[in-house]
Amino acid sequence: MAQINENYLKLQAGYLFPEIGRRVREYQASHPDAKIIRMGIGDVVLPLAPSVINAFHEGVDEMARQTTFKGYGPEQGYDFLREAIKNNDYKERGVDLSIDEIFISDGSKCDTGNILEIFGAKNTIAVQDPAYPVYVDTTVMGGRTGKVQQNGFYEGIVYMPCTAENHFSPSLPSQKADLIFLCYPNNPTGTTATKEELAKWVSYAKANKSIILFDAAYEAFISEDHVPHSIYEIEGAKEVAIEFRSFSKTAGFTGTRCAFTVVPKELMGYTESGEAYSIHKLWYRRQSTKFNQVSYPVQKAAAAIYTPEGKKEVKATIAYYMENARIMRESFTQLGFKVFGGINAPYVWIHSGSGLTSWELFDKLLSEAHVVGTPGSGFGPSGEGYFRFSSFADREKVVEAMERIKKIRL
Ligand code: MLT
Repeated sequence: MAQINENYLKLQAGYLFPEIGRRVREYQASHPDAKIIRMGIGDVVLPLAPSVINAFHEGVDEMARQTTFKGYGPEQGYDFLREAIKNNDYKERGVDLSIDEIFISDGSKCDTGNILEIFGAKNTIAVQDPAYPVYVDTTVMGGRTGKVQQNGFYEGIVYMPCTAENHFSPSLPSQKADLIFLCYPNNPTGTTATKEELAKWVSYAKANKSIILFDAAYEAFISEDHVPHSIYEIEGAKEVAIEFRSFSKTAGFTGTRCAFTVVPKELMGYTESGEAYSIHKLWYRRQSTKFNQVSYPVQKAAAAIYTPEGKKEVKATIAYYMENARIMRESFTQLGFKVFGGINAPYVWIHSGSGLTSWELFDKLLSEAHVVGTPGSGFGPSGEGYFRFSSFADREKVVEAMERIKKIRL
């Protein structure tokens, strides 16, 4: 008898974004004339930058010639890409990494989910609440929790509420957490952490021999100088943190797939008997066993964002999305919503204050304005009453969506 992993049965509903897609498709089927504007999932709409496309084409052409053809690539990714990351994303910000510490991958979604595999089942995991659903769902899938409770929390996970009341900056957990997911700039709230706040987490992790799983997928959207771009800008963070970065939103790779994870060599985990063991070695072992890297043309395309032309082009695309975010911020502020994010992140997080639940607001916006956003409660119980809009949309659609929303009574 083939038994299933019953931990999957503990999961609530479907994964958030397919669930939204399902509801939108159902609505569209019964209202075929509705011109729905989608600002739910953070999926890019602008094409890959010209430099990226040129490099991509070159990579494909190399694969067509016997002299330049490539089979399996290096397990951690090509040196040319890891060098470019090391120099541009880290060295320029005063962070010294070796390319051995950088693992290219096909996405931060996969990496933030897969990373738990190298950690023991008894670890207590802490998450910001609300949070990118992958952290909680993969924790549940791995059998690291009990059942979901009435209040929406899973037994065994430490939830750290992030709401307007605490300025979206969670307090340190009162109970000991071994693995701590932090996401900055934050998805879904669009808010950021100061260097002092990150330093507090690094000290906590050091004191408790914990590890911070730092998701920096939205780093490229930071516009304010004082906001840290990497956890490694904090002294001592290399001893306690793994950092996840992605080309998905930075350079429009959601469909092309390329990301990377930094696992410093000095980062240690512990056996049950308390012996230190290299996390880098474990991740290398896991990746080289279960993953065969991202294709050469894609890695070549990703490296093009670090050329002078590529940098300019990517910056212009990000500016386009951030102008969308500004338009949304302004519109929702005029409508009397409390508005957060959208300055250093592509997400605008609003609170209606109208007493509507997040899903009620979702239904109202869909049925009355034909506009799709993401209900805050889909990211965790503390997201209830909030709503997320993604700025990854065509400008005219953003403007039109704001006009439509202004016309309905909220
Ligand atoms: C989001 O909308 O939160 C993201 O696009 C989802 C993802 O990156 O997987």
